[in-house]
Amino acid sequence: MKIKETLLQRQEIKERVKSLGQQLTKDYAGTKPVMIGVLNGAFIFLADLVRAIDLPVEIDFIRVASYGQTRESSGSISLTKEPELDLEGKDVLLVEDIVDSGTTMVWLQEYFTTRQKAHSVKTCTLIDKNERRAVDIEIDYVGFQIEQGFLVGYGLDCAQSYRNLPQICSLEEE
Ligand code: IMP
Ligand code: MG
Repeated sequence: MKIKETLLQRQEIKERVKSLGQQLTKDYAGTKPVMIGVLNGAFIFLADLVRAIDLPVEIDFIRVASYGQTRESSGSISLTKEPELDLEGKDVLLVEDIVDSGTTMVWLQEYFTTRQKAHSVKTCTLIDKNERRAVDIEIDYVGFQIEQGFLVGYGLDCAQSYRNLPQICSLEEE
C-alpha cells in the first residue's frame, strides 16, 4: 500500500470544486437542494463543495458499504446509516468521492427516488473512473475523469488509510 504518484494537486482540486459550485448555484437557483454526502469518502469533498455553493442548502449523510478491506466492489450494497431528514418531495444531490463500477450510485439513485420519494435525484462525484463501469449510469456533475488505478487522498481511502492527504494520489499495484 505505497503511494505511487500525485495525480491532482490541492490547487487543481480547489479550482475545480469552485467551478462545480458555481455550476450548481446556477442549476439549482430558486430551489433549496439537499446535499447528501456518501460516507465516509465524500466528507472532505462535500465540505468544500457546500461552501462553493451560493444558495440555501440542507445537508445530510448516508453510509453504504460494498468494498470491505479490498480494492474491488463486492457488488452487493448494504445500508449502514440512513439519512435523517425527510426527503419526500426534495431536490436531492448525491455527493460521492468516486464512481467506479457505478453499482453504488445506481443503488443510491433508486433508494432516494423510490424509498425516500425525492422530487429529483442528481449525482455529483469528484472523480469518475469509467474504466470499470459495470452498470449504465451517467453522472450529472463530474469533477475529474481519471483512469489510473486505485486512488487515495482528499477523503478517498485504501482500507481506511490516506483519507487525510490534501492531494489525490495513485497507489502502487498490489
Ligand atoms: P462503485 O460501486 O464500484 O462505483 O464504488 C464506489 C465506491 O467505492 C466509492 O464510493 C468509493 O468509496 C469506493 N472506491 C471505488 N474506487 C475507489 C478508489 O480508487 N479509491 C478509493 N475508493 C474507491
Ligand atoms: Mg464511497
